[in-house]
Amino acid sequence: MSVIVWWLATMVMVAVHSASAGVVELNWEVEYKLGWPDCKEGIVIAINGEFPGPTINAVAGDTVIVHVTNKLSTEGVVIHWHGIRQNGTPWADGAAGVTQCPINPGETLTYNFIVDKAGTHFYHGHYGMQRSAGLYGMMIVRSPKETLQYDGEFNLLLSDWWHQSSHAQELYLSSRPMRWIGEPQSLLINGRGQFNCSLAAYFNKGGLKECKFKENDECAPSILRVEPNKVYRLRIASTTALASLNFAVEGHKLVVVEADGNYITPFTTSDVDIYSGESYSVLLTTDQDPSQNYWISVGVRGRKPKTPPALTVLHYVTAPSSQPPSSPPPETPRWNDFDRSKNFSKKIFSAMGSPPPPRKFRKRLILLNTQNMIDGETKWALNNVSLVVPATPYLGSVKYKLRRGFDRKPPPPPTFPMDYDIMNPPRNRNTTKGNGIYVFPFNVTVDVILQNANGLDANASEIHPWHLHGHDFWVLGYGEGKFRPGIDEKTYNLKNPPLRNTVPLYPYGWTALRFVTDNPGVWFFHCHIEPHLHMGMGVVFAEGLNRIGKVPDEALGCGLTKQFLMNRNNP
Ligand code: C2O
Ligand code: CU
Repeated sequence: MSVIVWWLATMVMVAVHSASAGVVELNWEVEYKLGWPDCKEGIVIAINGEFPGPTINAVAGDTVIVHVTNKLSTEGVVIHWHGIRQNGTPWADGAAGVTQCPINPGETLTYNFIVDKAGTHFYHGHYGMQRSAGLYGMMIVRSPKETLQYDGEFNLLLSDWWHQSSHAQELYLSSRPMRWIGEPQSLLINGRGQFNCSLAAYFNKGGLKECKFKENDECAPSILRVEPNKVYRLRIASTTALASLNFAVEGHKLVVVEADGNYITPFTTSDVDIYSGESYSVLLTTDQDPSQNYWISVGVRGRKPKTPPALTVLHYVTAPSSQPPSSPPPETPRWNDFDRSKNFSKKIFSAMGSPPPPRKFRKRLILLNTQNMIDGETKWALNNVSLVVPATPYLGSVKYKLRRGFDRKPPPPPTFPMDYDIMNPPRNRNTTKGNGIYVFPFNVTVDVILQNANGLDANASEIHPWHLHGHDFWVLGYGEGKFRPGIDEKTYNLKNPPLRNTVPLYPYGWTALRFVTDNPGVWFFHCHIEPHLHMGMGVVFAEGLNRIGKVPDEALGCGLTKQFLMNRNNP
């Protein structure tokens, strides 16, 4: 008897072990298709015919293998796994020009990487403005021993949508003078929104008519069916091109438990601010009147909204129908109440037991974010350099020591003139282009201070959500005005700062973050607003260069790497 029990126990352990080191293998075809993301016909990028792309489900420790075939016919493609650190596989990070060449039409590249940590993540295109065109999907990495307790879960991928094609947008943004793309026409929840009609009778006053759709219309909202008195985990990620968002569920409190794939000290809130590139898990208890339905509302913050909120319904299965409630949806907090936004950010602390940051930094960058001009084009620059990603991916250039792959001139200086007036438009509007990189030694602590400033127009400073590839960083603090070296460090939270991969930089303020260069590779660090990135708002970090392992040749078939590999492979 006891032998059998022991044998069973062993089997269970084996099963658990193999489950935690599984392989998730996927074949993807990326192509354009006609879609109706907001009930109006448009062209979207689909994966295997799906928009948004399929959700990847994996367990921490799994190997994920994705064979990506480009069926776009006239343009390259890459896919970035946002939130995955790619330890040991920097070539699989999917940033065009940084870690790989775009996959040519008709060709296939196999991404192969380990998802070492649980979390709510997503993936998206990282070439041109393909993310704006709808190349995105969710990526959920589960923990083999989840410590949170809940009865069910939903994934909510938030995005924004324009009726203009991403190609037109790209062209407008680099026109002289620049033509701004404007605010999105619609917000989407899991790729679904409603333009020109409203789920909420409430909006009829504003001239929007009631939406009529059939159950299986592509733009019909995906309704969340819940049972009373249960706890649900909502995994929310924002892949917007531009919009900063606020998420609320009518009549329900939300307990925030995870940020960017890291557990945080839980806190209760009525609504969640979420910036492009961020993800959260919130726990929602279905403790309200079970004969009713409730609004789920996603509205714009941080920029003057011209886009109606995205709406869907929390449907208690005990309610007579899944019809939207007759009450108005929760109102999105005032868009320019930045104090409210900052208060939300400042409520986020790492969970107990998560690693504290090193006490001191070895290297520090202070990056001034400015809007400038180059020959009549509008650009964004860091310490007066606007990034233009080179034709040869940095990873190839550093791996194979191709000296002409990018500028070996010193990259943007590590700081800016301390007398720069951040409260007014730049006195010198001009900036320069560059593609230099910051090279760090292996395993040192780096601080980055992001410093915001006024843009080209008076009285305008924007929010920039900054995202770092290859790492989580500690958010040490936020401040108003100009960062004061030697003084403001004293305000840092070194006890329980949250670990994240994306952090907002607020208007006219600074944000301080810290990371350790423990991941050999070349890593993009950029504003996650697609047009800003397109206009040069990024820098590139390289670390542990002599520890970079093998890079598959297939990832490097362009620029100088192409010739180099041809010569090497056919001597
Ligand atoms: Cu989700 Cu380089 O970004
Ligand atoms: Cu930005």
